[in-house]
Amino acid sequence: MSHYQGIIDRYRAFLPIEKNDSIITLYEGNTPLHESHNLRLAINPELNIFLKFEGLNPTGSFKDRGMTMAVTQAYNAGSRKIICASTGNTSASAAAYAANCGMIAYVLIPEGKIALGKMSQAMRYGAKIIQIRGNFDQALSMVCDIAKEESDISLVNSVNPFRIQGQKTASYEIIDELGFAPDYHALPVGNAGNITAYWLGYQEYFEKRISQSLPKMLGFQASGSAPIVRGHVVKNPETIATAIRIGNPASWKQAEAARDTSGGVINEVTDAEIMQAYDMLASLEGVFCEPASAASVAGIIKLNAQGYFAAGANIVCTLTGNGLKDPDSAMQSIATPITVDAEMDAVRRALEGK
Ligand code: F0G
Repeated sequence: MSHYQGIIDRYRAFLPIEKNDSIITLYEGNTPLHESHNLRLAINPELNIFLKFEGLNPTGSFKDRGMTMAVTQAYNAGSRKIICASTGNTSASAAAYAANCGMIAYVLIPEGKIALGKMSQAMRYGAKIIQIRGNFDQALSMVCDIAKEESDISLVNSVNPFRIQGQKTASYEIIDELGFAPDYHALPVGNAGNITAYWLGYQEYFEKRISQSLPKMLGFQASGSAPIVRGHVVKNPETIATAIRIGNPASWKQAEAARDTSGGVINEVTDAEIMQAYDMLASLEGVFCEPASAASVAGIIKLNAQGYFAAGANIVCTLTGNGLKDPDSAMQSIATPITVDAEMDAVRRALEGK
């Protein structure tokens, strides 16, 4: 078949896939690289700002790139059960890929701290969901132990190297589309798998001389959940951006390595800054992402205000998840629509703002 078949098919030569492996795919990847107009003008007209909108993956987040790899590997190794801890998106993605190949997905989530859309996805895809009275870090530690003890259950969190392999393909797509690597790549940091994966992808294309330069990696944590910025574990992480409400990232060291080798930064953004960027993306650009995703744009707004970027810089921001995932955040701090009788006069008066 010649139509698009997902990231494994497209980038097979760069991925640890055996020739006869059955590929478990939902046709993830191939997401738009949106060239911003109004947003760029609002931030700094001298910058070129591109948005890699990962919210348009099959389950609405970047996790699908990693999950096609992790589930394909587990399936071909004979496993029929997968497990993960999640702030929401990983559970939705794991559940979908498991459903697609008849596997059982077990997911541990922090009770009351995952967005409604993600919860409903995991439920409809048929995952076995266990809510814990605790946070993501505790859930991750437990699923790691379970996967160690139960050899028939495969762990599909980003500590699984196949997840990183899949997620690195986003960097390939960016270079394939632009024809060059950007000067800067900004993204939100939670468990720190994605910044690790992007950096790997950029390095591989550079080593193979497909690109001639490397970007500086810019990672942004929410202020209430910023262990890498603080330099210590945050015991009780808090942020409105529940996707990145993480106090002890599994790929902490790798994220620091990406920052240091690329000459970038890992910084923090407040919930207010995140929500401002979230609002700007939707209202100025027509791109609706979830709050955590907007941390990338909030971060470049912050750095730009400090004079960090030179004129003409090419910046790619990853928008990791779809705004539809989190309707509660969308409805917060915004005027609710007015209701009028179903009569022309009433509607006309409303249109005129009377
Ligand atoms: N953005 C979104 C929308 C996420 O769901 C996550 C992570 C991140 C950013 C951070 O990526 O962990 O690779 O640094 N979500 C995980 C989950 C933890 O369980 O869905 P990271």
